[in-house]
Amino acid sequence: MRTIDVCGEGELPPGEVAVVEDDFVGRIAVFNVSGELHAIEDRCSHQRAWLSEGYLEEEDCAVECPLHASSFDLRTGRPSTPPAIAPVRVFRAAVHDGVVRVELDEATG
Ligand code: FES
Repeated sequence: MRTIDVCGEGELPPGEVAVVEDDFVGRIAVFNVSGELHAIEDRCSHQRAWLSEGYLEEEDCAVECPLHASSFDLRTGRPSTPPAIAPVRVFRAAVHDGVVRVELDEATG
């Protein structure tokens, strides 16, 4: 397993998002949803908008794409509203020693 450091724990308060770039995976967005971290591929599956620039719907644990408003579940990566049909990738995110990290397994690069 490979890990990527994203930011300090204090730099990602609830309701906020942090973005990290990985050479193999590309941009990853890490959302703090009421204290729970959720990491997804930061690229809408419809027309590639940055989901980190979308609207975080904390009550649904989802993010709405800024371009055409598809809503993606941050736990599964699946869109619940059109026009997006395909899911985006999700990754495990956690805090280790005060640092927010994303974990990539063999299958995700
Ligand atoms: S680019 Fe995200 S819904 Fe179209």
